Amino acid sequence: MQNITTTLKKLFYLWRRNQVPVKQPIKISRIDNLIIFLVCILISIISSYKILLISPLKIVDIFSWFWTFTEILICSGVLILVSKKENPTISSRQIFLIITLLLLVQVTKLALASTISPLSMIIPPALIISQGMGSITALAWVSIASLIWPDPEIVINNNLFFILLVSASVVSLLGGRIRSRAQLLQLSIFVPIGSFLSQWILIGTEKISFINKRDFVLANGDIFSDSLLLAIAMLFTILFIPIFESIFGLLTKARLLELADKEKPLIRRLSLEAPGTFEHTLLICGLAEEATRMIGGDIDLIKTGALYHDIGKLHAPNWFIENQDGSKNPHDELDDPIKSAEVLQAHVDEGLKFARKNRLPKLIANFIPEHQGTLKMGYFFQKAKEKNLDIDEYYFRYKGPIPQSKETAILMLADGCEAALRAMNINASNKEALETISSIIYSREKDGQLDDSNLSKGEIFLIKRAFLNVWKRIRHRRIQYPTSKNNTFS
Ligand SMILES: [Fe+2]
Ligand SMILES: [Fe+2]
Repeated sequence: MQNITTTLKKLFYLWRRNQVPVKQPIKISRIDNLIIFLVCILISIISSYKILLISPLKIVDIFSWFWTFTEILICSGVLILVSKKENPTISSRQIFLIITLLLLVQVTKLALASTISPLSMIIPPALIISQGMGSITALAWVSIASLIWPDPEIVINNNLFFILLVSASVVSLLGGRIRSRAQLLQLSIFVPIGSFLSQWILIGTEKISFINKRDFVLANGDIFSDSLLLAIAMLFTILFIPIFESIFGLLTKARLLELADKEKPLIRRLSLEAPGTFEHTLLICGLAEEATRMIGGDIDLIKTGALYHDIGKLHAPNWFIENQDGSKNPHDELDDPIKSAEVLQAHVDEGLKFARKNRLPKLIANFIPEHQGTLKMGYFFQKAKEKNLDIDEYYFRYKGPIPQSKETAILMLADGCEAALRAMNINASNKEALETISSIIYSREKDGQLDDSNLSKGEIFLIKRAFLNVWKRIRHRRIQYPTSKNNTFS
């Protein structure tokens, strides 16, 4: 009987260990929700009203219209849910972009279905969505945009429909992974060439008729003109992606990599004016990148976020120990723990100001306050206690918020472990290093700093192993290799 109880307890413990804290989804205001709902209704009306224009109108047609209307409304809802699932921090502006693109495609279909190939209508928006919101959202969008045709008289050639689905899916899948504008340009050349060849092979011989309604105005359904139009539309889309990025706050991989360029003026300033902080930042990048790879997070996001996390220290570099270089510590001269705590908090506030000035995307700016969370400035709190100052602990804590994503949480843990690992003796064993890492992470966990991050116990375990691997690399780098005088080989 006792065995059963122990086993049950163990099972319950294991189940608890795998649970992640329940995180509140991003709140969207009522007004935004209403606008989004109205656009969805508009999409449903535009996509179904032609059913009601049939004369004489029978009761079956009204049922058919109602069914189509509801179906499209549900599809739009599912699309929004998928985008929220893929991007938990998605904003109302971005949801608005997704459904407005759907609305635009439906209007274009009504106006130009007999003129323009469906490939040119559906593939360019799919590229924008995959770049900004990810492949899964783009695939969901493509399936809805390809299946719903507002004009019941329009029937797409089966082969063309197949080519449309394959090309749009390829763009959606690759678009979410592409890491440079050059690769985007390659995509905008190869997809039209691919669609041209496949149309030529599959439907080129049957006197091309992708829509059997009216005569074609544009090049009479010429597959070469269709593919050329697709290439031009894709090139224009790529040209306008930076504008979409700034209007809708999209964070594409290409933008992330551009921001991670160490030649960016802000990063150059950090390396020149606060070299200690710059070195600390580079080491943190290594720790955070390794840990994010282990748990399967967004590596490009964390690398860029890590680069900018302490940018606020530029406001007063010599107030931070890593930049003091053995010179006098201004905190000692100030001799006021409360003021010192304010200087520390200022590196977050000033960092956010730098982020706004330099138009850093919100997802990157989030790393600035969240890497400090509501951590206690223990050293200065202790000093205040020594001075018998009767002051609440609250004044010695950062203002937060605590990390809201796995990536910002990893950065907080890397930030905590960096100095300890750097200071560790070269002869320290792996066990000692792991113990140090574990105790730092445990203190953050106990303090409730990871409560909103969605990190599971298993992931925290993997993060510890990743930090240990980086420590092994650091140690390896610091070992001096014996060199002989006549050693000419390298
Ligand atoms: Fe910091
Ligand atoms: Fe830091």
